[in-house]
Amino acid sequence: MRAELDNQNNRQPRGAERPAFSRRAFLRVSAAGASGALIVGTAGFAIGWPSAGAAEIPDWTAADIPAQNGRRVLVTGGNGYPQGDRSGLGYQDALALARAGARVTIASRDQARGEEAVQRILADAPGSEVRFETLDLANLTSVRAFAARMRATGQGLDVLINNAGVMGRFNREVSVDGFERVFATNTLGHFVLTAQLLPLLRRGREPRIVWVSSMRISDTLPFHDLQLEHSYDYAAAYDNTKLANLMLALEFERRSKTAGWGVSSVAAHPGVARTNLIPNGPGLNSAEGWRLRMLPFMFQPAAEGALPTLYAAASPQAVAGGYYGPNGFQGMRGLPGPVSIPVSAQNLQSAAILWASLERLGQVSLS
Ligand SMILES: NC(=O)c1ccc[n+]([C@@H]2O[C@H](COP(=O)([O-])OP(=O)(O)OC[C@H]3O[C@@H](n4cnc5c(N)ncnc54)[C@H](OP(=O)(O)O)[C@@H]3O)[C@@H](O)[C@H]2O)c1
Repeated sequence: MRAELDNQNNRQPRGAERPAFSRRAFLRVSAAGASGALIVGTAGFAIGWPSAGAAEIPDWTAADIPAQNGRRVLVTGGNGYPQGDRSGLGYQDALALARAGARVTIASRDQARGEEAVQRILADAPGSEVRFETLDLANLTSVRAFAARMRATGQGLDVLINNAGVMGRFNREVSVDGFERVFATNTLGHFVLTAQLLPLLRRGREPRIVWVSSMRISDTLPFHDLQLEHSYDYAAAYDNTKLANLMLALEFERRSKTAGWGVSSVAAHPGVARTNLIPNGPGLNSAEGWRLRMLPFMFQPAAEGALPTLYAAASPQAVAGGYYGPNGFQGMRGLPGPVSIPVSAQNLQSAAILWASLERLGQVSLS
């Protein structure tokens, strides 16, 4: 992985057999044609950011993932196998990386769905190495127990994909540890997991962490009420965590460089993809659920939404401290490329406060 952000706009060499009229070119043309007709709702889909096509981007698909043989990969939330037209992004990450030869562990709460996901990946990628482990990110005892099991294997970890996530429901919910549920799952759980797995990552080969963020993030983090005890709002609950995870990706990279951990940190977002995030969160009757039902063309298939994460996790051209997302229409869909890091995620003081808050709340040291 190249270490300098300055190089982010460099193109990856194209494969020799690319068709003359590439898929990216098709997406650009489609986007241009659709732009007049597309109606974008208020909550969530930021028109104008990131600026589509602003950077030169590689024409990269899952077929371009280099051989991952022997690389150990952990994907949180990797059990969302396809059901109907929806699938989890983590499942698509796991499938693509297993196909490329990685030894993949998928970790999430639902054991039955986890085992089913393993069977489906093995059917799609015969001979691949994939297994399931139970992990509840919203339960810090579960996170610590999971990390202890990983450490007990005595093996290093090459890639950690902090993918699992939930959206808020209309009423505030708390985790078994008493934290607001979305914050507990998306941010605190991943932070504690990362801290607990850092020794394994440091023993990995060219190790990297990918933090999954979103186009939809808050402008700022409410440090006076991080648990939203006084002003709960389901959208804010989610948007805060996606800003936090993007900040953590950048802060981890800075600290890793300073401390010499030798672990790279990259952020990615999937644009807008057809998954179970909305049905399992605010539900199909929310504004987001309405869009999922009525404007399905706005949501790309999960396999495409997974591409920025896969690029961040596996491409040698991915840049430490970089941010990747779809580069098609309004950054909501399309093939992956570097995207702008919102100013709100670049505040060093906020990142340091967030880090310290998570260390305190998670009773863990990530240093
Ligand atoms: N879909 C989009 O358009 C979109 C846009 C921006 C960002 N994202 C991000 O993409 C990531 C993946 O979401 P998705 O869209 O694929 O949603 P999804 O289909 O609902 O998948 C979420 C995954 O997270 C797991 N999970 C939920 N709670 C967990 C917990 N407490 N502990 C461990 N695992 C847990 C789920 O498995 P179990 O329920 O079995 O635990 C599932 O595998 C999330 O971080 C999300 O914020 C998605």
